[in-house]
Amino acid sequence: MTRSERAPLDRVVVLIPTYNEKDNLPRIVGRVRASVPSADILVLDDNSPDGTGAVADGLAAADPQVHVLHRPGKQGLGAAYKAGFAWALERGYDAAVEMDADGSHQPEQLPALLEAARDADLVIGARWVRGGSVVNWPAHRKALSVGANIYTKLMLGLPVNDATGGYRVYRTSALRAMDLDSVSSAGYGFQVDMTVALVRAGLRAVEVPIEFVEREIGESKMSGNIVSEAFVNVGKAGVAHRVGQLRGLAAEVNRRRREGTWHSE
Ligand code: GDD
Ligand code: MN
Repeated sequence: MTRSERAPLDRVVVLIPTYNEKDNLPRIVGRVRASVPSADILVLDDNSPDGTGAVADGLAAADPQVHVLHRPGKQGLGAAYKAGFAWALERGYDAAVEMDADGSHQPEQLPALLEAARDADLVIGARWVRGGSVVNWPAHRKALSVGANIYTKLMLGLPVNDATGGYRVYRTSALRAMDLDSVSSAGYGFQVDMTVALVRAGLRAVEVPIEFVEREIGESKMSGNIVSEAFVNVGKAGVAHRVGQLRGLAAEVNRRRREGTWHSE
């Protein structure tokens, strides 16, 4: 699809999932409002025990461009984002942005992601590409992320280098076209599942280098369970993908045999 065929992104909503981010939330909301003043914000809070939901309500009361979706309890990043996508679709937004609340995804880099979205269905703010970087991550976390992305690329043959990256812009037209029901991972594997579903729907994903800064306040919710869920789900999808490729190859061989073109190329 050429640039001129894609609709302009007039209405953008930044989705910010939160679980115990009361100190981070006001900062990130302020930075988003300053960096992209036209964008709305939707905080997706899973009834954080630290009172993040009340902090979000305060921000929303003070600014008509800030909204809050209160969810009953901790159901994972993926579930929160799916609720956010539905919210954005119902309200006619052109694009939905995924952004962590802890400052790792710098709002100041959002204009560059939105610019790239003029010619893409999905833009991934990528760490593991030329010009991308990670600040303040311990070696084991870097190794895990690089390893997960190599594993994912080999297993799934995806055309991206940071399929687990969580700083993203989706065109809502893409969310509508994709099979969101096929996206089952609740945790970080959600990002990979979404990338697979988007590429399978024939849509275009591009990457823009970002500087990912590890949080200074609060704790990561990354756990062994989340990692193994992603590992197992990518493995399953990878096997299915490769079996599909073999089936396609066998069908092609049979077709060429039938047509007598097997030896002619
Ligand atoms: N609503 C909700 N529910 N929010 C959640 C949940 C949940 O169950 N779990 C995490 N979050 C929120 C956090 O509050 C934060 O705003 C954001 O999701 C990311 O959580 P972190 O715990 O800070 O994630 P991370 O820094 O370990 O992981 C980042 O890197 C991963 C890849 O390496 C994220 O960007 C992931 O999206 C990414 O896959
Ligand atoms: Mn984080």
